[in-house]
Amino acid sequence: MSISPQHTIRVSAPGKLMLLGEHAVVYRRPCLATAMDARLHLTLSLAEPDDGRFTIFAPDVGVDGSQGRIAEAFAGGHALAPGTRFIESALAVFYERTGIAHELTITTHSDFPSTHGLGSSSATVAAMLYGLSRLFDLNLDPDELFSLGLDAVRRVQQLGSGFDLATAIYGGTLFYDNARPRQILPLNTPTLPLVVAYSGIKADTPTIVQQVAQRLESWPDTINGIFDVMAHMVKDARCALEDGDWARLGELMDIQHGLLHALGVDTQATARLVFAARAAGAYGAKLSGAGGGDCVIALAPEDRRDAIEAALVEAGGEIIRIAPHAPGVRVEDSESRP
Ligand code: MEV
Repeated sequence: MSISPQHTIRVSAPGKLMLLGEHAVVYRRPCLATAMDARLHLTLSLAEPDDGRFTIFAPDVGVDGSQGRIAEAFAGGHALAPGTRFIESALAVFYERTGIAHELTITTHSDFPSTHGLGSSSATVAAMLYGLSRLFDLNLDPDELFSLGLDAVRRVQQLGSGFDLATAIYGGTLFYDNARPRQILPLNTPTLPLVVAYSGIKADTPTIVQQVAQRLESWPDTINGIFDVMAHMVKDARCALEDGDWARLGELMDIQHGLLHALGVDTQATARLVFAARAAGAYGAKLSGAGGGDCVIALAPEDRRDAIEAALVEAGGEIIRIAPHAPGVRVEDSESRP
């Protein structure tokens, strides 16, 4: 394998927000998600001497120069540190696919905290695989990046629909249908008038997904019925979204929040925020993502935005200023050898 002349490449991938369909999407139903303009930045540098090692600097998650061998990255499902799991699993997948084990230094930095459920793991995997593919001149297409990325994510956590990875790779706003065959459809939408607030509670997505799996096992007809209703709503919501009909989309968000409550993933903190946003005039509001904490989203009429933000803060939320529909994984810049 010939190494391209590129020596250092800087890439970035967006975080995500789930608009509608969370949990149901794990069970092969569709969802709607948008990429947000808070990004995970990753620098890959070819290092010398070439002893087939990698060195990771990820200060946001307390990793300061952890070292390992590329051929042994994430071997047996073990990483050097919790903060390096997704970087290492992406390295392992890339090495198996290409056999490339050139000495590398990897540095990450995120615009958003990994605690807010905004998709830092999938953005890391997308940025790693895209960066590696560009550094070594392979130019993998988005579909191939997605299937390698899903493999990398699944090595770390088994349950997961992959919508966040699709959002990190493709960007924009997506209709993601997790049926067989899987469908990833970029949507043309007017700018969503979103307000995002963090509840102050960090949720552990795999644990919450597991709790829903248990509820599904206890009540298969009921919970599958809820998932089917959600799937229906995603299709209606897609039309509302493409038409920019925020009143209808808001109503569907309210209904969806009720269904998420029925799945057992709402909390006092998220419920308080949702009710506060609605009382302040939102078109609609819901928790976004796995639940159990993390973020709430609201759709705000322009003349109510300030009042909604103030109500969310008053109810204990922290406003996160991010714009939806951000570009997918991309090269920021690169340098060649002198
Ligand atoms: C978490 O952001 C969304 C879930 O649907 C899990 C997933 O889709 O992987 C709960």
